[in-house]
Amino acid sequence: MLYTIARQTLLLSVFGLLSFNISLASEMASPSMLSDTCLGCHGPSGISDGPATPTISGMSEIYLIGAMLAYKYDNDEDKVDAVIEADPDLEDVEYFARTSTVMDRIAKGYTEAEIKAIAKYFAALPFKAQKQDVNVEQAQAGASIHENHCEKCHEDGGRSAEDDAGVLAGQWIPYLEYTMADFFSGDRAMPKKMKKQMKEVHEMHGENSVAELIQFYANQE
Ligand code: HEC
Ligand code: HEC
Repeated sequence: MLYTIARQTLLLSVFGLLSFNISLASEMASPSMLSDTCLGCHGPSGISDGPATPTISGMSEIYLIGAMLAYKYDNDEDKVDAVIEADPDLEDVEYFARTSTVMDRIAKGYTEAEIKAIAKYFAALPFKAQKQDVNVEQAQAGASIHENHCEKCHEDGGRSAEDDAGVLAGQWIPYLEYTMADFFSGDRAMPKKMKKQMKEVHEMHGENSVAELIQFYANQE
């Protein structure tokens, strides 16, 4: 009797496990398969070779997930917040409105579970800075502006991913230029404190300050 029950429990749990595995396999492709689609634009290993496309390797999972959710839900803050609240893994994800030329369409093709898997995949790959021609004089002027106004959240000269604020160092100059223009036009949302710093930078250092910051980031290795 005891033996039968034990055996039944064992069988049940084996079947339980099997069907669990099967359902996982049929629901979701492997992270590297899911991420294959991204490489055409974001470059092999997520290191971009196109000037308007950012490198996404080495950014934090939290940042990547936040970006993908904003794209997926067309900047519908309520929808993104509902997704974040429903999943304890997403506790640290923050919503910021984003501009998109292609990413809104691409992100809609993935479920939240897939987005999490893709984010984990790219976060684990190393970031590599682009080699590009830089105006060294402007980059030097940008260094002290960065130190005083941006380093707090974009640590290590914009290299660190730890603050969930992307990676600025070594991104393509055109991508940084588009991004800054989007921030200034208000099409892409800045965190409140970043907006305050940007305003101060503009007031204190004038028109060229944005170009100087961009050259500084582009000059980081
Ligand atoms: C057709 C080209 C293309 C494909 C394919 C593509 N991306 Fe993008 N991605 C872009 C461009 C261009 C941007 C800049 C935003 C925009 O214009 O849509 C971007 C921006 C991003 C950003 C924001 C990065 C930042 O620094 O803020 C993330 C994250 C991202 N893509 C992830 C992905 C992932 C993950 C995939 C695959 C599932 C993917 N992308 C596929 C072109 C592409
Ligand atoms: C209070 C923290 C904070 C400060 C200060 C700050 N930032 Fe940011 N920054 C962020 C966060 C958070 C994000 C990511 C927003 C998002 O997810 O879209 C970000 C995003 C960015 C991006 C876009 C990154 C990408 O990959 O698309 C750029 C460029 C940027 N910041 C530049 C600056 C500059 C230049 C300064 C200084 C004038 C600055 N930031 C100051 C928090 C900050």
